[in-house]
Amino acid sequence: MTTSREQSAAGHADLDEFVEVGAAEDFADGQMAGYEIGGERVLLARVDGRFYAIGGVCTHERANLDEGALCDNVVYCPLHYSAFDVRSGEVLGPPADRAAPTYAVRVEDGKVLVAVAPGGAPPGATESTQPEAGEGVREEALERALPWHARISAELDRMDWLRESADRMIAGLVPVRRRLVRTGLLDLLHGRWFGHALHPALSDLPIGLWISSLLLYLIGQPQPAAILGVAGVAAALATALTGVADWTVAEGHERRAGLMHGLLMTAALLVEAASSATYYFAGARTVAVVLSAVGLAVTVGAAFLGGHLVFGHGTMVNHTAWPPGPAQWFPTALETELDGAPGRTLAVPAGEKTVLLHRNRDGRISAIHNACSHAGAPLSLGQVCDGVVSCPWHESKFRLSDGGVVRGPAFSPQPVFEVRVRAGRIEVRSRE
Ligand code: FES
Repeated sequence: MTTSREQSAAGHADLDEFVEVGAAEDFADGQMAGYEIGGERVLLARVDGRFYAIGGVCTHERANLDEGALCDNVVYCPLHYSAFDVRSGEVLGPPADRAAPTYAVRVEDGKVLVAVAPGGAPPGATESTQPEAGEGVREEALERALPWHARISAELDRMDWLRESADRMIAGLVPVRRRLVRTGLLDLLHGRWFGHALHPALSDLPIGLWISSLLLYLIGQPQPAAILGVAGVAAALATALTGVADWTVAEGHERRAGLMHGLLMTAALLVEAASSATYYFAGARTVAVVLSAVGLAVTVGAAFLGGHLVFGHGTMVNHTAWPPGPAQWFPTALETELDGAPGRTLAVPAGEKTVLLHRNRDGRISAIHNACSHAGAPLSLGQVCDGVVSCPWHESKFRLSDGGVVRGPAFSPQPVFEVRVRAGRIEVRSRE
């Protein structure tokens, strides 16, 4: 969530080199504010619980960054959408080409203090010299108040071994992904050819087969039960391929929860295979039933995590599925702003959405949704080549002319907007 507020900290310079700008608890995560400090505009932002301060004026054309938008650790300028990393001041997106200065930040006695002069903090480092009194106790109380499923989710994030294993495995898989990316196999596994993610659809197969297998065991039909158990194992192997493909572009919590999901499904697959083998080779029906029930129980746990990822975190759902923009013509940029280098794009607000404008080779202006349908990255930060924009996060490619997917992991095209030019200004509206 992004909010912005403006305050003056002048007159509070009660510490040698720092000025107090407010209480830490008044600052929610994802919030930013602009202050006049030492005669300069400074932007203070809170990201993942930590405070960062950088120069508050865009290094491109002197717009106040706190009037723009903060998305995770990236602040977008309200004028031309230059992007800066609030942790380091680094430019992440043009037209700005100079980094913003950084300012040291301290939290003392619950008060946020910002250095008067820039350069005090090493890039990316925000300091909190003293934990707020009672902070640990408060966090514990907050966590106890969470529902059980959210506590499981938080527990996964605390497992260092899970994070380290996930990161190591992804590092090993990235070169494989790069080699396969041009073959079309990944697009098939992600579900691009079907218009939606393949993994959640396939995952119904092993679950259904293993439930049926257990029921058949219970009603005294061990032979078909064992056959369905083996069929479930085969279906689970195919499903796992699609899951691994999706997982190679997962990050953060999705990466950790995804690995736990995969580990549980691997365990379930082995137990179900053991169940069928026990009946086939040893004729031990009771042991086969018990193993089948255990395998199914583990599968339910894995399926819970799968649901948590899809419905709780929007993993591999179409991030442009909701109403994409204004129904009426909405004025955006001047047509002349698209002049200049070929391939130039502009990200402009249109109602609650941001639209990516581009002039095609034939001179026509096209407009597509700026948030990538895969995981919502701003396409305006990606490279444009031959009328195709590459997503800056996981390199999905979309045609700018019609939003079509050229390469996954995205499987849904970018919504396209209607465009017209009135008195030199580009207007857009969403298509029916
Ligand atoms: S956000 Fe993943 S490819 Fe765009």
